[in-house]
Amino acid sequence: MVMGDANQVTKMKCLALACSPRKGGNTALLAGRALEACREAGHETELLQLTDYNYSPCRACDNCFATGKCVVRDDAGIIFEKILAADRFIMAAPVFSMGICAQAKMLIDRSQQFWAARYVLNIPVGKKPDQARRGMFISCSGTTLPGVFDGTVRTARYFFKMLGIAPDAVLCYDGVDKKGEILKHQRAMDEVYRQAQTLVQL
Ligand SMILES: Cc1cc2nc3c(=O)[nH]c(=O)nc-3n(C[C@H](O)[C@H](O)[C@H](O)COP(=O)(O)O)c2cc1C
Repeated sequence: MVMGDANQVTKMKCLALACSPRKGGNTALLAGRALEACREAGHETELLQLTDYNYSPCRACDNCFATGKCVVRDDAGIIFEKILAADRFIMAAPVFSMGICAQAKMLIDRSQQFWAARYVLNIPVGKKPDQARRGMFISCSGTTLPGVFDGTVRTARYFFKMLGIAPDAVLCYDGVDKKGEILKHQRAMDEVYRQAQTLVQL
């Protein structure tokens, strides 16, 4: 929580992006749990379900290398605007086929514009300075295979880097498959809540 003078507390905008196509699934429930902690700490919260938005994959047209902006006009623009306006960003995406789910990956590829802006054109990304944005990443997998989160976490970290958001916590829970099964995983529910509490204190 940001403190001003003695009695003033500045509300932060906390945004969670639930990337699974399964609404009310395990990762969405964890995203909701994180927002609960933010809300109880007095902050403004919003949950976006990627599956409610229409956006297409990157076309590899390279236009963003000249402007730092994507030429495709669709809902990805709305989602990025919200992410970049948030003080705290919680991303939750499951492992599909040993990587991040396609819905998330499609959006991540669209962040090529931020790579171009940041590293090719030296244009700042978003209106807030990078240091003002912090976040966490949450994932679930059905199996307990060694390295099951490697691909997913690597891609998520890349996304956070493109956005200029520090990933303060990366929380992954394996062996969680059926819809809603995460609710029985008390350690996960508690850990996500605690990490979100910490996130809004940073
Ligand atoms: C298309 C698809 C592919 C999946 N691939 C994997 C996988 O490669 N490894 C794994 O451990 N779990 C895999 N899973 C299981 C999910 O990771 C697991 O059910 C997770 O809890 C889903 O989270 P959600 O409820 O938020 O969608 C897959 C599930 C689906 C639907």
